[in-house]
Amino acid sequence: MSQGRIILILLSMIAAFAVAIHLFTTIVAPPESGQTVVAFDLSRPRAPAEARKLVNPIPVSEDVIQQGDELFHGKGNCFVCHGDTGKGDGDAGALLVPKPTDLTDPNLHMLRRDGELFWPIRYGIEGGMFAYVPRHVTEEEAWMIVHYLKTLKAER
Ligand code: HEC
Repeated sequence: MSQGRIILILLSMIAAFAVAIHLFTTIVAPPESGQTVVAFDLSRPRAPAEARKLVNPIPVSEDVIQQGDELFHGKGNCFVCHGDTGKGDGDAGALLVPKPTDLTDPNLHMLRRDGELFWPIRYGIEGGMFAYVPRHVTEEEAWMIVHYLKTLKAER
């Protein structure tokens, strides 16, 4: 057998091995349960059922929305992942799986009650987002952010 042939056979063996490994990891090892691979699969709630019952204790006002805005872009750190305009396109979120939620998505606002927007900030989302209370904001401030989040709903 010529040297060229041996190299060719070796190369095809390596290629077959690489394909086998690829198939094995994609088919045999499914994504970890509880982790979404598809971003913005909003049909799956991110908070437990009890979150739907929570009522925002802070009355809404222009001033509160303004404070929520400042917290979102300030010590709340939300913009880092969710982006300046809330579209989920922040620098730190670029490589995350699942992607940071598009907080302007009208479907999000249709499907989630106040308490379900509050829950991720207060308790975090498993495999998604850390809790931001009390490390970054207080509970009251989290509720102010919820008032601000509701103003992000895009008309589509
Ligand atoms: C380190 C990146 C990161 C930061 C910072 C961050 N988030 Fe998130 N957030 C995520 C990711 C990723 C998801 C999506 C999780 C999922 O799809 O399961 C998410 C989801 C959410 C959701 C839930 C959407 C739903 O489907 O119910 C809300 C609301 C939210 N974030 C608000 C905030 C607010 C407010 C802040 C600031 C206090 C914040 N996030 C900071 C990464 C981040």
